[in-house]
Parts: sequence; C-alpha cells; structure tokens
Amino acid sequence: MEPAKKEFTREDLVKGIKNRQFKRIVVLTGAGISVSAGIPDFRSAGTGLYANLSKYNLPKPEAIFDLEYFKENPEPFYKLAKELFVEKEFTPAITHYFLRLLASAELLHMNFTQNIDGLEVIAGVDLKYVVEAHGNIRSAHCTACKKEANIREFMWHLKYEKIRRCECSGLIKPDIVFFGEDLPKRFYDNMDKIKEADLVIAMGTSLKVMPFAGLMSMVPEGVPIVYINRENTEVVRENLLFMEGEIDEQVLDLIKDLGWEIHLSAAIKRGLFRAALGHLLETPKL
Ligand code: OAD
Repeated sequence: MEPAKKEFTREDLVKGIKNRQFKRIVVLTGAGISVSAGIPDFRSAGTGLYANLSKYNLPKPEAIFDLEYFKENPEPFYKLAKELFVEKEFTPAITHYFLRLLASAELLHMNFTQNIDGLEVIAGVDLKYVVEAHGNIRSAHCTACKKEANIREFMWHLKYEKIRRCECSGLIKPDIVFFGEDLPKRFYDNMDKIKEADLVIAMGTSLKVMPFAGLMSMVPEGVPIVYINRENTEVVRENLLFMEGEIDEQVLDLIKDLGWEIHLSAAIKRGLFRAALGHLLETPKL
C-alpha cells in the first residue's frame, strides 16, 4: 500500500511558525501584495496595468517596460512613472508589515520581491533581507554610459514631463529592470537561499515571469510551500497549501492566529513615522 501523502495544512503553518519549527522562511512576493496600497498589478483582467495602457498606443503592453522600445520612445514610460510614482503617495499594506514581523522574529531568511515600490523597506524590513529582483525606484542610471544619475533630479523631470538625459545624451531610467535587461547581481548571488528554506511563502504573484518564477522549482522536496493569491496560476506539488482570496485578509487572519496583532499595530505606527520622516527628508531645501 502506498504511504498516504502528507498534506500541509493551515494548522501546520500556524503551529510551525509559533513554535519556531520554521526558522528560515523564504517569501516570494509580487504586485498583488501592493494592490491594496493602491498600485495596480500587471495581469489582473480589467484592473491590471497591462489592461489599461491603450492611451499609450503601444505595440504590446509589455513594451512600456522594454529597453529597446524605451530608447526609441521614452514618453510612455515617463508618463506612467509620473502617474504612479509622482502623483501618488503609497504606504505599506498589512502584508508588507507581516514581512517586517517575520524579520523581527528572526524567521525571515529572505524576501525575493518582483516589486519595485520598496514598500517592504518602508514597513521596516532591513534591505539585507530583501532581494529586489526587478530593481527599484530609489536610484537611476544613464542607459548609454551607465553613469549614476541624481534620482531627485530625475523625479523632478518626471513631474514636469521632461525627458531626462545624461551629459552623454543617453536617456536616464530608474533602476527598474526592463525586459531586455539582466536581473541585478544580488538576485543571482542570493538565489540559492531558497534551497536553505524550511518554509516558502509565495504571495501576490502570477509566477509567470522568468527567471524569478524559476525560484519555485529550486525549493527542496518536502519543504512546504504556502501560496496566497486570488488564483492558483501555476503551483502544483505536494506539501502545497493554497490560501485562496484577498492577501491582506488571509495575512491578517494569520497574524491573529499567531497572536501577533499587538506587534502589527506597533509596526504600523513605526512605518507611518518612517514614511513621514522620509517625505521630510525628500523635501528639497528652498
Ligand atoms: P501579476 O500581475 O502577473 O500577478 C499578480 C497576482 O496577484 C495575480 O495572480 C493576481 O490574481 C494576484 N492578486 C492581485 N491582487 C490581489 C489581492 N488583493 N489578493 C490576492 N491576490 C491578488 O504580477 P507579478 O507576478 O508581480 O516585471 O508580475 C511579475 C512581473 O511581470 C513584474 O515584476 C513585471 C511584470 O512584467 C517587469 O516589468 C520586468
């Protein structure tokens, strides 16, 4: 008779985190965790970014993040970046704070994120626990000579819809990874961390974009995977716990079951303070 397949349950998850059976938790995140913070994801029908770019007359939606297209026609990306990163202010959602709580409890081995919004860092997760696989918007470089550009000046240009060029005349682009560019060295330097995981949590990602999605196939056999998402796109394996639904709701329930609500409130207070301080520091001197 075949041995019964071990199912990994939500109770196993709560118990395993509570009693520190899981001490090297690797978390993979995508755009879905920032949707409640007001940033659209990419592929959700109707609301996703790729479904709402018709005004830019792109050959295909992904062209807005394509390096070759950008070099020919940077305006669509500059306009979108203005809409997303200049006209709005975002604060972390519950899920970003959950990452902070895992880090504070010394249970977070690494958070690999495809997001460029930096909200986990604003929520207080030390950057040493974060691999921003698709880059970030805290810095910018020239696409031609690769020289670092001043990010504040770049943001100012976005605000006034001016294309920012380097003194070599190359286009300035924030350090977001575009299609046609390699991922940061930090991703490759750290990808083996997933082989050291005793628990993997993937949240808010369709797991459709390589090489990031390839991390899932590096999870050692037997290590449980928790997938928190509205839909199960790709993940089929033993020891999988699929938690279907809204991420913040699922994560808040988990936080309650872990008895971490008090830590959540404290983390949110600190996060709001950090965000406010960040804005003060960003204010240019007159
Ligand atoms: P996607 O838009 O592909 O996937 C987001 C996933 O999150 C989808 O499966 C949604 O159903 C789910 N989702 C969204 N909001 C949710 C919510 N509130 N609760 C639960 N689930 C929710 O985004 P990513 O997987 O992050 O790369 O996309 C990966 C990469 O594709 C991006 O980093 C970007 C893009 O092209 C580059 O531009 C290089």
